[in-house]
Amino acid sequence: MLVEIIKQQHLELRELFMRHQEMLLQMQFEDAKIWLEHFYVCQKAHMKIEESYIFPEFAKIERTSKWDVSLYEKEHDKINQLYENIANDLNWLSEQKLDQSQKRRNIIALLDKEKTLKGLNEHHEEREEEAMLKELDDVYMNICDGADSGTEAERAKEYKQLQLDIKLTWAEVIASVRETSI
Ligand SMILES: [Fe+2]
Ligand SMILES: [Fe+2]
Repeated sequence: MLVEIIKQQHLELRELFMRHQEMLLQMQFEDAKIWLEHFYVCQKAHMKIEESYIFPEFAKIERTSKWDVSLYEKEHDKINQLYENIANDLNWLSEQKLDQSQKRRNIIALLDKEKTLKGLNEHHEEREEEAMLKELDDVYMNICDGADSGTEAERAKEYKQLQLDIKLTWAEVIASVRETSI
């Protein structure tokens, strides 16, 4: 099921962001930057998977939810903008000569911004899981159930291939981050 594959990616992204926040809390700015970059490499790859494999499929089916592809795309843009903003702030913070209290205050300000990103991401992911992916899985499950031959069998095969492609693409990205973080 697509929803399970994508949900797993959402969880792995959350874990990478958590590691960044742990480093930030410990004032380890260089490590915080590395984990934020890891998070974003994976976040970008995740969005690309959705944009190139899932959104086109979702655009083809008859929707039952009110959100179309353009809303998901806009949310991806917003996630990118917020990330840029946070990465800039962290770079700035890592270059300053500040006392402990100033550092703590800047960390609090950054965590507030990060809360906005986390909130946006959570809503976006929830929408993807509860609406878009659920609808896509329902459509394909129906096709797979009755697919003995002909066009439906062909589409059922494409659906399986789609899941496999998504899994493989993600596995490569995650492996590249794991390699560099050892
Ligand atoms: Fe997304
Ligand atoms: Fe997603």
